[in-house]
Amino acid sequence: MAAPSIQLNVRSIKAPFNLKPVPKQYPKLTRISCAAAAATKPPTRYSITLLPGDGIGPEIVSVTKEVLNLAGSLEGVEFNFQEMPMGGAALDLTGVPLPEETLSAARKADAVLLGAIGGYKWDKNEKQLKPETGLLQLREGLKVFANLRPATVLPQLVDSSTLKKEVAEGVDLMVVRELTGGIYFGKPRGFGTNEKGEEIGFNTEVYAAHEIDRIARVAFEIARKRGGKLCSVDKANVLEASMFWRKRVTALASEYPDVELSHMYVDNAAMQLVRYPKQFDTIVTNNIFGDILSDEASMITGSIGMLPSASLGESGPGVFEPIHGSAPDIAGQDKANPLATILSAAMLLKYGLGESDAAKRIEDAVLDTLNRGFRTGDIYSAGNKLVGCKEMGEEVLKSVDSAVPAAI
Ligand SMILES: NC(=O)c1ccc[n+]([C@@H]2O[C@H](COP(=O)([O-])OP(=O)(O)OC[C@H]3O[C@@H](n4cnc5c(N)ncnc54)[C@H](O)[C@@H]3O)[C@@H](O)[C@H]2O)c1
Repeated sequence: MAAPSIQLNVRSIKAPFNLKPVPKQYPKLTRISCAAAAATKPPTRYSITLLPGDGIGPEIVSVTKEVLNLAGSLEGVEFNFQEMPMGGAALDLTGVPLPEETLSAARKADAVLLGAIGGYKWDKNEKQLKPETGLLQLREGLKVFANLRPATVLPQLVDSSTLKKEVAEGVDLMVVRELTGGIYFGKPRGFGTNEKGEEIGFNTEVYAAHEIDRIARVAFEIARKRGGKLCSVDKANVLEASMFWRKRVTALASEYPDVELSHMYVDNAAMQLVRYPKQFDTIVTNNIFGDILSDEASMITGSIGMLPSASLGESGPGVFEPIHGSAPDIAGQDKANPLATILSAAMLLKYGLGESDAAKRIEDAVLDTLNRGFRTGDIYSAGNKLVGCKEMGEEVLKSVDSAVPAAI
């Protein structure tokens, strides 16, 4: 089934670009009436490509698949999952980090759920044979240019933050990172020698007008539906690419009179994120600054193991994945926190498929599980129950099933 037209769609970015989750066809129902609805109406079916990847990837994706299945079934939604190799797992199987079959399956799916890729084993591979290259190829192949990375400090986890409680509590921001341009893709790039014959490595930070405009529109629309504040982060005091970025973002502001636009240099933004993060609502920035700032923002929330992300493009499936990596140090030990991936599944439902009710079930279930005191090691604090990846997943399933609205 083709994915419903979603809010992050370049065709609709121009007009009318609407970030509101697509209303699903079933009204909000209790569990019993959902079952009744499911009995009378055929379920909506979606195909999901699962890319478990490496390290903790298979553990967190397997747990998340169960949660998706249950939340979906309670809302009249069914999934066909197709698991494909990617990253180091694909290198071992096929010799490349993103086999054509994997990209082709991802293109045909309604959405892609990715675990994580990478590991010590492949660290010394040449660039084209690194798991990370497969990730860049996937993003490029699906043309997912907008990466949404929310960082919300949950009251239950405020003590896990590395910042003082009064600085961390109440933080709720969204980093909108440009994902398919800038220095990670710019040419020329490579190694060579300079005029003195000395070895050099070089990359190019380059943005075309349309690349800036489309990500800025996504960010304005998101800001409009959040707190109405958009901070564009650049390095316009030094870099021409940033000066151009600022010019284009500023030019669009008149189309969004309800959004308050500000600009900040990236060094200041990095500092402000730990000084007074509550000042931020929505941040838009380029590929490399977004990579760094979103990881920094993640630590405000307590653990990188809590943060989901969505990568969306003009059309076709989005890629939904936790922002963390494959955590090889804890892989295979049942220690990984699956919540970032589970929350990525909620983003998949909400932003990728327009199934907001099923998404809400998952979000509520995560809060409920935390309220009941279950914690993996990365977010553990005294007085709570320490659990592994599997048990955390089982507790989330119980919360999804109980359908008790979680008190935040
Ligand atoms: N999108 C991706 O797949 C992605 C992103 C970043 C890094 N990587 C790759 O992952 C590998 C490891 O990279 P890294 O160590 O810099 O970053 P990482 O995010 O994998 O790990 C950083 C630290 O956070 C911990 N951590 C991460 N996720 C966790 C979770 N869900 N639960 C509990 N603890 C968690 C790890 O144990 C580690 O101590 C590298 O090969 C890197 O290239 C992949």
